[in-house]
Amino acid sequence: MRKPFVAGNWKMNTDSYTSVELAERIASGAMEAAASGSVTVVVCPPFVYLQSVTKALSASSIGVGAQDVYYEPKGAFTGEISPSMLKDIGCTYCLCGHSERRHVIGETDELINKKVTASIVGGLLPILCVGELLSEREASQTNVVVTRHLKNGLAGLSAEKVSAVTIAYEPVWAIGTGLTATPQQAQEVHNFIRKLLGQMYNDQLAEEIRILYGGSAKPNNAAELMGQPDIDGLLVGGASLKADDFLAIIQTAM
Ligand code: 13P
Repeated sequence: MRKPFVAGNWKMNTDSYTSVELAERIASGAMEAAASGSVTVVVCPPFVYLQSVTKALSASSIGVGAQDVYYEPKGAFTGEISPSMLKDIGCTYCLCGHSERRHVIGETDELINKKVTASIVGGLLPILCVGELLSEREASQTNVVVTRHLKNGLAGLSAEKVSAVTIAYEPVWAIGTGLTATPQQAQEVHNFIRKLLGQMYNDQLAEEIRILYGGSAKPNNAAELMGQPDIDGLLVGGASLKADDFLAIIQTAM
């Protein structure tokens, strides 16, 4: 039985005051979910607010994740942040290969693979994001793209290591656009991903790994999305910046 998982990706939003305020409101509103331990809840603030948000959430069971990570442990890599630095300030998760990093910043599968690998080795739990562009969906390339993202992103990792990974399917055309994949469209791809992981590793891993959906997830579509057999939770962008909306989504997952 896979535990539902709701993660909020704050992207490049909030400031030193509103990040802590948002975290505190989520923590107090999610007390029931946290106490029952029935849902994994994680927020991913910008790097500079990670420490204050971690502190604000320290009495709750809400986890904190980074939006990105670098693969080297330390050294002359100006501007980068290592897995051990993130661990040091109480981070447990990190996003790897978010579509904005792939398509805006230009990250390659090879770089993302290094980040996923270094995260696991460094004791972080990576959330590997995969998903197709609109043009790729229209050209019926969704499964091809998702296969490439998964195979390249997880290259060289054993089944044991991959068991630390959560997958997030985020169709790029549904991110921040208000266009959500229908529950059926999302379920189809999630099921494809689960089967593929079964072929790449084994049935147990495929059965246990959590696959989140992301892309305009909101309180009004969360229940139907999470009601699909292969959708284990949501990676929420815009709606995670509003405490009431994020809490309503967490409630749906309970
Ligand atoms: P939106 O929920 O704003 O579409 O963003 C989704 C996302 O990119 C989460 O990582």
